Amino acid sequence: ALAACTPTPPATGQTNRILPTDPLINDYETRRDSTGKTVTKTLTPAPFSTTMAGKKLTTWGYDGALVAPTLRGTVGDQLKVTVTNKLSEPTSIHWHGLALRNDADGVPGLTQAAIDASKDYPYSFNLPHPGTYWYHSHVEMQRERALYGALIIEDPQESLKYDKDWVIILDDWLDGVTGTPDEVIKELSKGMASMGGMNHGEGDGGMVMGHMLMGASSDFLGGDAGDVAFPLHLFNGREPENPETFTATAGERIRLRIINAAGDTAYRVGVPGQKLTLTHTDGFPVQHTEVDAVVLGMGERIDAILTIQAGYTPVLALAEGKAQMTYGLITTGSGTAPGKDALPKTLSGNVVHGGQLTADPSVNLPSKSPDRTHELRLTGGMANYDWGINGQRFDMTKPFEKAFDLKIGERVEVKFINDTEMWHPMHIHGHTFQIGTTGARKDTVIVRPKETVTVYFDADNPGQWLFHCHNAYHAERGMMGVFSYL
Ligand code: C2O
Ligand code: CU
Repeated sequence: ALAACTPTPPATGQTNRILPTDPLINDYETRRDSTGKTVTKTLTPAPFSTTMAGKKLTTWGYDGALVAPTLRGTVGDQLKVTVTNKLSEPTSIHWHGLALRNDADGVPGLTQAAIDASKDYPYSFNLPHPGTYWYHSHVEMQRERALYGALIIEDPQESLKYDKDWVIILDDWLDGVTGTPDEVIKELSKGMASMGGMNHGEGDGGMVMGHMLMGASSDFLGGDAGDVAFPLHLFNGREPENPETFTATAGERIRLRIINAAGDTAYRVGVPGQKLTLTHTDGFPVQHTEVDAVVLGMGERIDAILTIQAGYTPVLALAEGKAQMTYGLITTGSGTAPGKDALPKTLSGNVVHGGQLTADPSVNLPSKSPDRTHELRLTGGMANYDWGINGQRFDMTKPFEKAFDLKIGERVEVKFINDTEMWHPMHIHGHTFQIGTTGARKDTVIVRPKETVTVYFDADNPGQWLFHCHNAYHAERGMMGVFSYL
């Protein structure tokens, strides 16, 4: 049941069509669960130096580290994060996957003003629903420099049984080294062009990419053949030369919370010779599904249960369509760690992506026919490296001009129609949609070349909400849009 309301017309010169102080938005806030508890944290985006592929380099991260703090709370806790901006440019934090009040969504120019260099900014909201989420800067390509971290929301009514949970964040290292996405884009737009001439603005090491591998054709995503790939993929901030090692006891059930934070890489994740039981995607429960491997597009999350066997167990993350990998190790304290070169190079068998799973019936949207349909054609191509929605390149300086209108209370049908030769992980802010009528509840879904994926959501969180491809380079080059309603 949703209150009727009259939208506030934008005042002259006002950037936001909808003011965060709008009584309706506050009204929604008061209806969110509250435990009365507060989780307080300061996050400091700052430059730091690290070593990658044997070279010293400078990049940006939260609290000056490659792996940002994992934030944890329980549904209904108030999360109070003070951002202390130690960068030389403005920043923001977006809480990926959470249906927050609109002014907490962290999109400069749309839901807030950017946080200027050397300024503080308080985010404060109630954690709305349980699951595996993440946070990242939503200013241009800053996420690509390592400004991202995990956000885990515990469920007081959790029914899944497990002994431990571990966060696994995967990232490709294309541009974070350089901070000059335009150069990467320029090179990407040349398709197979050599990266040899790139000049890296920061870092003593200059270019860390020792050699370049061509993007091989992917058997799963239909090929990303135009994309140039680099040999560096991180598993919890670590290179394969120095893998993350978890300790467990044989027989323990571990909940793996896998997050793909990469800008340009899907990962195929699996444990050779063992099954994973997929339990959640993008925070929401699915009907448990046993697989040999799971593919995560950029921005997606998968929770999986793994039963630990004695000895060393590798968790492989293969860069989909690229002949590259990263991994972590689990040890029970016996046996010898396998070296990187001893690990399998493929994961096959039953391989799915989150968009192919079936929702746990407890999270199905109530049955209702759609009140409105938006057809969102994913358009553009590698030739000019221009990407868009319905042929339009999004202009972040005028985000409201071509907003897609919704009305509060509507069941919205969105058809992502991929007209391109590339695949796109499409993300909607502030809502969790359902794929079809029984598919998974998700906030980010892979749309393969020439495929149409139809999703539904309820317009129950008024505001202005970005949607975009979670390939950082496609988004930056225009594959974005805004849903707007009050
Ligand atoms: Cu992770 Cu606009 O998103
Ligand atoms: Cu894309």
